Amino acid sequence: MPERVTTGDVAPLGHRRLGSGRAPDEASILMPDAVTLAAAAARSAPALTLRPWADDDVTALVAAYQDPAMRRWSTAAPRDHAAGRAWITEHQDGWSDGHQFAFAVLEDAADAADAATTDDIRTARPRLVGHVVLREVTPGEPAAEVGYWTAAHARGRGVAHRALATVTAWAFDTFGPDGLRRLELLHQVDNVASCRVAERTGYVLQDVLPPWPPVYPLEGHRHVRTGPPPATGGRAAPPGSRRRTGPAWPGPRR
Ligand SMILES: CC(C)(COP(=O)(O)OP(=O)(O)OC[C@H]1O[C@@H](n2cnc3c(N)ncnc32)[C@H](O)[C@@H]1OP(=O)(O)O)[C@@H](O)C(=O)NCCC(=O)NCCS
Repeated sequence: MPERVTTGDVAPLGHRRLGSGRAPDEASILMPDAVTLAAAAARSAPALTLRPWADDDVTALVAAYQDPAMRRWSTAAPRDHAAGRAWITEHQDGWSDGHQFAFAVLEDAADAADAATTDDIRTARPRLVGHVVLREVTPGEPAAEVGYWTAAHARGRGVAHRALATVTAWAFDTFGPDGLRRLELLHQVDNVASCRVAERTGYVLQDVLPPWPPVYPLEGHRHVRTGPPPATGGRAAPPGSRRRTGPAWPGPRR
């Protein structure tokens, strides 16, 4: 679990201040430059490593978005190398902007028991299998939002559930002291797989959102997972004070 550092005036070497692009009276948070998280192996599924998107993920990213289900549930589907690079840059920029934190999810090389030859063991490298993003983070605000996908070749082995659980814990650990109390997860009603991931990960169905065509022609589900109670001395914002910038559906899922 990464360490939440301090809220002093000077960033220690190797840390950046988040939220610096916002109004001067808004809180800012310091965070390690490189955040790498881990999710334990599941039965018949290797462990996962979560880290910010890197430039050389582009080929695997574009390949993942060839899948029709990915394109169906995303309005920002990069179809070629240039679009993939732009997608990665946007998600890298979120870390420096301090309001969106996207993780590439990599599956560790298969266990020796699963490898056909010793060469498989030696050459096996972690494979990109998914994406989890924490977005709409504002220091002092009580709510933020999560989104995710799993590449088609890696579905059905708990990647989304384990990666989302890991980022959820990190989010409350990192931003809870600055007021984060609630994470929201939104999906269109007919995305059964996403609904199941939400429930499995403790995101409880809270309400049904009206359609928002053309992006979401059907109703949506809003699931919510609440964090631990505020620690003494935290800077919790009053309930309902979250600044919403859009309609009930705050934007396209990515
Ligand atoms: C939704 C998605 C992320 C699920 O990824 P995944 O890694 O296969 O999910 P998991 O293996 O962690 O499954 C978690 C739970 O969901 C269930 N589940 C997964 N896919 C399902 C499906 N198509 N139908 C019903 N249940 C499904 C699993 O059985 C599991 O439930 P269980 O723990 O009770 O067995 C993946 O299908 C995907 O990327 N879809 C396209 C993009 C998308 O829809 N993103 C979300 C937008 S809101």
